[in-house]
Amino acid sequence: MPVGDETVVLARVLSCPELFDVGSVREARRVARRLLSGELEPPPEFLGLRSEAVNEVLAVTEGPAGRNVAPVGLRLFDGTPRVALYRGSRTRRNFEESGRLVACVNPDPIDFLRALFDELPVRERAGVPVAEGTRAFLVLERVRASEDGRGVLRAELRVSDWGLLHPRPRALVRGEGAMVEALVEFTRLHLGEEHERRCREALETVRRTVRSGRYLRAVRRLEERLGSRS
Ligand SMILES: Cc1cc2nc3c(=O)[nH]c(=O)nc-3n(C[C@H](O)[C@H](O)[C@H](O)COP(=O)(O)O)c2cc1C
Repeated sequence: MPVGDETVVLARVLSCPELFDVGSVREARRVARRLLSGELEPPPEFLGLRSEAVNEVLAVTEGPAGRNVAPVGLRLFDGTPRVALYRGSRTRRNFEESGRLVACVNPDPIDFLRALFDELPVRERAGVPVAEGTRAFLVLERVRASEDGRGVLRAELRVSDWGLLHPRPRALVRGEGAMVEALVEFTRLHLGEEHERRCREALETVRRTVRSGRYLRAVRRLEERLGSRS
């Protein structure tokens, strides 16, 4: 069953009425109840995630490495949630055993640092372990997983449950920061060659982490301008 206070869910529905095509508080309340009963599935945006992008989340896992929390990129390129787990982490060890992770949506990068430094507490909300600072979460279960040629475990997931704990959830999206970085470097091109290199690197990060048409067009436009300079 989805986890969340009805008032919080209602506030969220009212803040993004376009997601459910609601035109009144009464309709929004009906949608909030249908979401909480599990009758209606929330789109990723409702939980603060961005479609067609890698969303940086805090993954809580349980298993042979104990209860653990660590940053992971949740890929939402085609509607199917996916993760790529590198060798050697506790997250991967736990996930390989349990086939499950809780993706915690938190907009604060300092909490990511706390997770990496083993300083971020995890508490249960309605039986689900979630990291401190979590605004929304998804319980994700393995559908299939396999190692690629470089030893990265690539897993396709399905959402088995979700929760909304705050009316303004928002995941960190690396590609958005990278786009800002690219633009800053673009304005400094006249100051030295290193700025063109940094601009291109940032654009590469955008390309890898956001695949929406708007972003890809923006990357191409900037690359064209860079190309026409040389
Ligand atoms: C923003 C961010 C995103 C990350 N995404 C991933 C990822 O998608 N897959 C992965 O294997 N490691 C990822 N990492 C690296 C792991 O978080 C890192 O290896 C961590 O130390 C693993 O911790 P653990 O041993 O407690 O699981 C990411 C790190 C950061 C900071």
